[in-house]
Amino acid sequence: MEKVTIVGAGNVGATTANVMAYKEIADEIVILDIIPGVSEGKAMDIQQTAALSGFDTQLVGSTNDYSLTANSDVVVITSGIPRKPGMTREELISVNAGIVKSVVENILKYSPDAIFVIVSNPMDTMTYLTLKATGLPKNRVIGMGGALDTARFKYYLSKAMHANQNEVHCMVIGGHGDTTMIPLTRFASYKGRNVGDILDTATLDKAVVDTMKGGATLTSLLGTSAWMAPGVSAATLVQSILHDKKKIIPCSVLLEGEYGQDDICIGVPCLIGKNGVEEILDYKLNAEELALFAKSADSVRETNKVLYEIKAL
Ligand code: NAI
Ligand code: 2OP
Repeated sequence: MEKVTIVGAGNVGATTANVMAYKEIADEIVILDIIPGVSEGKAMDIQQTAALSGFDTQLVGSTNDYSLTANSDVVVITSGIPRKPGMTREELISVNAGIVKSVVENILKYSPDAIFVIVSNPMDTMTYLTLKATGLPKNRVIGMGGALDTARFKYYLSKAMHANQNEVHCMVIGGHGDTTMIPLTRFASYKGRNVGDILDTATLDKAVVDTMKGGATLTSLLGTSAWMAPGVSAATLVQSILHDKKKIIPCSVLLEGEYGQDDICIGVPCLIGKNGVEEILDYKLNAEELALFAKSADSVRETNKVLYEIKAL
């Protein structure tokens, strides 16, 4: 019996639950939110698609009742607020850090063995906070960002090449931010051919830039941040854990010397299976890529500093 809790019944949380139910990734999904009725409503709405879609997953809504989340195998944290006009980065981090920290503490009271998937932004910093505040082993705290950024890179590369997205292979590592992510063109291929042999430099550079501002592009179109691809990305990560798929997915995890970095959670290629992060893969970056990774890590570290300034850690 596989049980997953999703904290936050907003756009990303509800989409994650919907995709997970549709694909029968778990037997039971609890959706928890603080707004009365919303999680119950979303759980009921998704449950009413069961006969149409043919799934057997059971959904439960919870207004802040953590006892309903007991014995979850995986917990996805999507609770938090987006940055509002006039709000400083410190204020956003302060609000979301408070939410993420209290949510994680409450979850652990009822699911001490859970594996955490962190989605709330700033994601790399919220993943670091979860790890440091709880002292959980590093294989059980996984930040979701690279899966989404990689899906966007595939989208833009496939558009540029007029190619089938499913036949494009690539990876985005580094921080989950417009300026910190690193789409790795050297490792990007289409049917075994490097994309650099197919696209001219200007077109390839544009696919990289479009990927990096992919989240911002959607935010300006939608008036809020995206949720479809983020929800599917989180569900895919949960599926690789619960079904022990051993997929290689770029995730934000604690580094202890890998890629030349220490004491930071940032996106790197990970083998994801039943134990969470089972291995961090060494992609043998060249000097230029390593320099970009170091710069990205510096930027994530600057954001992490705020956690100490606001005494979240
Ligand atoms: P949303 O505003 O639609 O949903 C957030 C939900 O969290 C709301 O329903 C709210 O009531 C709930 N919430 C707030 N405090 C809570 C608490 N203490 N306990 C339980 N629930 C609480 O936002 P959306 O679009 O779902 O985004 C959620 C988060 O995910 C944001 O921080 C966003 O920036 C981030 N995000 C991260 C992505 C990634 O790739 N890592 C991709 C997309 C969004
Ligand atoms: C995204 O990349 C905002 O993290 C969110 O869509």
